Amino acid sequence: MPLHRKSPTTTARHLVGLAVAPALLALAAAGPSAAAPPPTAEKAQAQAAQRHGGADTLRRSAPRDLVVGTAVAGGGHHEEQDYADPFAYDVEYRDRMAAEFSSLSPENQAKWEYIHPRQDFYNFYPMDAIVRFAQENRQVVRGHTLLWHSQNPEWLEEGDFTDEELRAILKEHIQTVVGRYAGRIQQWDVANEIVKDDGSGLRVGPTSEGGNIWITRLGPGIIADAFRWAHEADPQAKLFLNDYGVESVNAKSTAYYELVKDLKAEGVPVDGFAIQGHLSTQYGFPADLQANLQRFDALGLETAITELDVRMVLPEDGIPTSAQQAQQADYYRRALQACLGVEDCDSFTIWGFTDKYSWVPVFFTEEGSATVMTADYERKPAYHALQSTLLDARRGAGGR
Ligand code: XIL
Repeated sequence: MPLHRKSPTTTARHLVGLAVAPALLALAAAGPSAAAPPPTAEKAQAQAAQRHGGADTLRRSAPRDLVVGTAVAGGGHHEEQDYADPFAYDVEYRDRMAAEFSSLSPENQAKWEYIHPRQDFYNFYPMDAIVRFAQENRQVVRGHTLLWHSQNPEWLEEGDFTDEELRAILKEHIQTVVGRYAGRIQQWDVANEIVKDDGSGLRVGPTSEGGNIWITRLGPGIIADAFRWAHEADPQAKLFLNDYGVESVNAKSTAYYELVKDLKAEGVPVDGFAIQGHLSTQYGFPADLQANLQRFDALGLETAITELDVRMVLPEDGIPTSAQQAQQADYYRRALQACLGVEDCDSFTIWGFTDKYSWVPVFFTEEGSATVMTADYERKPAYHALQSTLLDARRGAGGR
């Protein structure tokens, strides 16, 4: 499934954020009003939950050992759209995010080009604001991402660095970013999309052709180093590999399977394997998703679904047919069931929850309607499919 990235991302806009206090990670599943919180935040978020569904939300439907997450819209494709930064300015969006989810993933705000836009300057404000929001709402955070081929700043890609300098740059970045949020991040996507689509090996090659600058310049050993540096900076965070096109047992996921075995044999602190899950109804559902998650679980890893969305080729009027909606709901349900069926799949994240801000129409020609709510926050059949599956699991009917 090739991604058609139509537009390059631009530089970061700055949000105002404050320093954050340590998160209460274990309380995340409990929802906005379950334990000792900053009092004003508690009140505000209890009210938000009340306005947007009360107890009738995804996080409150979930079994205790599963966090349900969303990407936090901002940066990336949003900067080319006709709206202000959603996380900073859209109050209804923020309220619903607090009410519905127990985990947050910065969609772009912790990527190199945002958080490290110049060599001598880190822009922590947007990520600080997300981490603080999460703490106020008893949500955990997934950090995304540290070693990737995409969305790197120009100073890095165009810079004239020796291999030794590059290595020092990566180490300093990981120590700085992971260290800043130590104790407040549940899971980090340390390495993102490092395997070639055909599974033939790591992404070695020119950056202009999707090569990973770090692996290409410094060799595959840099992956182990990145995990070690991240672990040193935050021993509590669970450290993940993350990719798309690895839903099924296929050449690409098997390349990860072999990589994980090697890393573990070397004692590298890799804790988890995450499947993004950018699906489309024009392709069949990856029926062996659970079996695939299970084989990583059997290696002693945690697993996670980190970026689920289910796009579709829209009819001419742009409105999905009821058959399309039903198929989409079925894909969401099955993806969640697959995770619920695997013991250490404890984190299930959708890549945005409203079509208002989805990346899909910007990146996939003629496809859309990929999230669980319309642009007006109307719950789609896919939302209800997730909710009823969560409730079943909580009552013990879903295998948990
Ligand atoms: C996407 C964002 O959603 C867009 O806003 C941005 O313009 C490009 O990146 N795999 C990933 C995510 O790991 O970081 C990508 O997010 C989607 C594919």
